[in-house]
Parts: sequence; structure tokens; C-alpha cells
Amino acid sequence: MKIITNSVEGIKEAAEILAGDGVVAFPTETVYGLGANAFSKEAVTKIYKIKGRPSFNPLIIHVDSYEMARQYGVFNKSANILAQKYWPGPLTIIVKKRESDVVVSATAKLETIALRCPSNIIARKLITELDKPIAAPSANKSGKLTCTSPRDVFAKLKNSIDAILDGGDAELGLESTVIDCSLERPSILRLGNITSEEINSCLDYSIAPSIKTEKQIKSPGQLLKHYSPEADLILNANRPRQGDIFLSFGPHPKEIDGLTLTESKNLVEAAKNLFTFLHKLDRLSKAKGGIPIKVAPIPTNGVGAAINDRLIRAAER
Ligand code: TXA
Ligand code: MG
Repeated sequence: MKIITNSVEGIKEAAEILAGDGVVAFPTETVYGLGANAFSKEAVTKIYKIKGRPSFNPLIIHVDSYEMARQYGVFNKSANILAQKYWPGPLTIIVKKRESDVVVSATAKLETIALRCPSNIIARKLITELDKPIAAPSANKSGKLTCTSPRDVFAKLKNSIDAILDGGDAELGLESTVIDCSLERPSILRLGNITSEEINSCLDYSIAPSIKTEKQIKSPGQLLKHYSPEADLILNANRPRQGDIFLSFGPHPKEIDGLTLTESKNLVEAAKNLFTFLHKLDRLSKAKGGIPIKVAPIPTNGVGAAINDRLIRAAER
């Protein structure tokens, strides 16, 4: 496993590994991705194996432009509006799949394809250098805590991947918002930094997130248990006691172990810190014999909705 520094040569080297059917973790503005050449069956198979991901759970296909995306999917009116407004950026758009060289296992044999053009410049340069789309789930073991820093990717995946392209900490910290535009009426399958209010404001009608129960899974990533730390999480904890591990929102209480997601109750800052802090507190929990992590209530407005969505799944056992 090699750590590649971000530079013109570094991006070339990472692209060469991808071109040779290797697997490279790379930065995006949301979280780290585990990348494979989307045209390589061998590389895509490696991704599923490394993650322990069920073959029915499709990957997001990352592109460097809207023009590239249109080669792989059919953009209807709402998909076009959303791509124009939010790309490059943290929005994944599901559309009808075109016949192409994207290997069928990457899209789990579905007739739809999830496309995303990231705003992170390193990610886009990597795609441009490879000159092919990159199939990439989040860089973590299936169902486990998401990684938003090279350090966490290294700790969790170092033995199974070829390289990490180091782009520092992810800017946003939560996975992209996923919207299914393959049907006439779009639906939001995963909450993220782009909120449902923002999406509604640019479409002609209002859509509510359809984050369903496990029985009605549309997006396999909607499984209720997901993003799991090793420690138990206790949500909406208001009064931590000495000896507890506490993840707070606002000023951190004196003499209590833990961290605050944001001193100033800024939800965007809290989102950015969420997964790295859960990794840190998970290590602290282990050092203290596996005690639970208590988490303060987080407001549900704005990106708070996505934070709460992740926490509820992470707390599920
Ligand atoms: O921010 C992100 O989206 C990150 C970075 C690396 O881009 N990627 C990411 O990928 O979070 P992943 O695999 O962890 O989550 C992708 C989600 C899964 O819930 C998957 O089921 C869903 O997108 N998905 C992919 N293709 C789909 C499709 N055709 N129909 C429905 N859901 C789909
Ligand atoms: Mg994931």
C-alpha cells in the first residue's frame, strides 16, 4: 500500500494504478472514495470484495463533467436542472443507464446508474487523467464508519488497497445527497449537505425524502444499520456524567471525556467533524474497555437532518 502525495505526478501515478486494474482511495469533497476503473470488471470485483459489499448494492460512477455523465446516463428534465445547479458538487443523480463500457457489476445489473461529478479538484483531475469514469463507494468496510481523512482510510483499509491519494481532510464530511431522477417524480434516497429544501427550491414540485424502512429498500445503502462504530452509541444524551465519553454540540462540558462537533453550534462544521470524531471516540471507547459513546441532541434543520440520519443508523444494533 502506497500513500501518494497530491501533485501532478501523484495524480498520474494514481491514474496508472487505476488503469492497471488497481484500487486507489482518493479524496472527494464529501468523503474518501475507494476508486476503480469503471470499465474494469477485475477492479470493480476487487472493490466489492475489499468492502465486503453485497453484489446487489450498486456503486456511484464518478465523472469529471456533465458531458462525460451524459455518455452513461439519460438526463431527463429534472436530472438536467439538478446537474446544472449542483455539479460539480455533492449530489448523486440516478438516471436511466445507457449502454456503455461501464461494467454491469458496478451498477448491480440495474437499468439505472448513479452519477456524480465531484467538486474536489483532485478527484476530477484523477478522472480526467484516467480518461474513464471511476466507480467508487465510500472508502470503508461495508456497514462500518465512513472515512473522511487519509488517516482513517489507512487505519481501516491499509492491507487491502493499492494506494491512498492524500488530499487532506474531506471538506464536507458526509456522503453526497442521492436523488433518483429515473422516474417521472424524483425522490431523495439519501440526505447530505444539499438539503431537500434546496432541491425542492429548484424543481417545479415538492418532494419529501423517501428514506424508507428496510422492507422497502430502493437504495441498498438505506439499510437501517449502517455507518457503525464498534462502540454502542446513545443518542440525544443530555446530561453526561464523569467517566462517560460524550460527543457534544456546542461548548463541551468541563471534566467530561470526548469532543464537541462544533463549539459554535454550526451544523456544517458538525457535519464535517462527525465521522472523524466518531473514529476518535471509538478508539477512546476501546481504550476504556468498550464503554458507549453518548451523543448530544443535534438540531434537525438544514444539514442537521443528514447528521441525524447518519447517527440513527450508526446507533442501530
Ligand atoms: O459522497 C459520496 O457519494 C461518496 C463519494 C466517494 O462520492 N460515495 C458514496 O458511495 O457514498 P456509497 O457506495 O457508499 O453510497 C452510494 C449509495 C448507496 O446507498 C447505493 O445503494 C446507492 O448510492 N446507489 C448507487 N446506485 C444506485 C442506483 N442505481 N439506484 C439506487 N441507489 C443507488
Ligand atoms: Mg458508503
